[in-house]
Amino acid sequence: MKQKKIAPSLLSADFTNIAKDIQMVEQGGAHLLHVDVMDGHFVPNLTFGPFIIQAIKRAASIPLDVHLMIESPGTYIDAYADAGADYITVHAEVAPHLHRVIQQIKKKGKKAGVSLNPHTPISVLENILQDIDLVLIMSVNPGFGGQSFIPNTIKKLHDLNAMLKLHNAEHIEIEVDGGIKLDNIREVSDAGCDVFVSGSGIFAETEPKATIRKMIEVLA
Ligand code: DX5
Ligand code: ZN
Repeated sequence: MKQKKIAPSLLSADFTNIAKDIQMVEQGGAHLLHVDVMDGHFVPNLTFGPFIIQAIKRAASIPLDVHLMIESPGTYIDAYADAGADYITVHAEVAPHLHRVIQQIKKKGKKAGVSLNPHTPISVLENILQDIDLVLIMSVNPGFGGQSFIPNTIKKLHDLNAMLKLHNAEHIEIEVDGGIKLDNIREVSDAGCDVFVSGSGIFAETEPKATIRKMIEVLA
């Protein structure tokens, strides 16, 4: 049985006081800090370079889960690894040499993840399963926080779990990103999710700490 983990997405945090928000979610019991890196090409938004990741790392005591929504991810693996990422996840859609990029991540001693957009079939993972630690299923179109959970994700999660079983790869963590809140986290968990990214579902709540605690309770 894999551990269920909550990964608050810092995209929805207060950037005038990021250290305070990091401390807050850590006190609530968060397991990972999800950091969304966007390049304005693969997705229509821009966020953090390695320098900001370094600062986040200094303020954090839990691992950094870095989600690269960027073209040519291979060019930047070393920079994000050196900046303090613990997990590095790249999108299959922008990695024609996915195997090589995964090896780059592992060579840096980091956990390697592959992310799929809502329309990307899980079959692209079939020949990389032996090399990865995590699959990140997008449950919104990447680029922005605060969007609604795409319902077809539930079927995709069931199919992915069956695929991991078939290939003896059940050790791989399944992460879901986008539109997860206290009111749907149970359904996502029941479909076979292990790592729950939540941005607005935590930071836009009046009591973010209590919300994380409740999420953990719901998953227990
Ligand atoms: C979207 C990002 C998400 C985002 C999720 O492209 O990958 O991590 O922060 O935000 P919510 O939880 O608000 O949908
Ligand atoms: Zn993300």
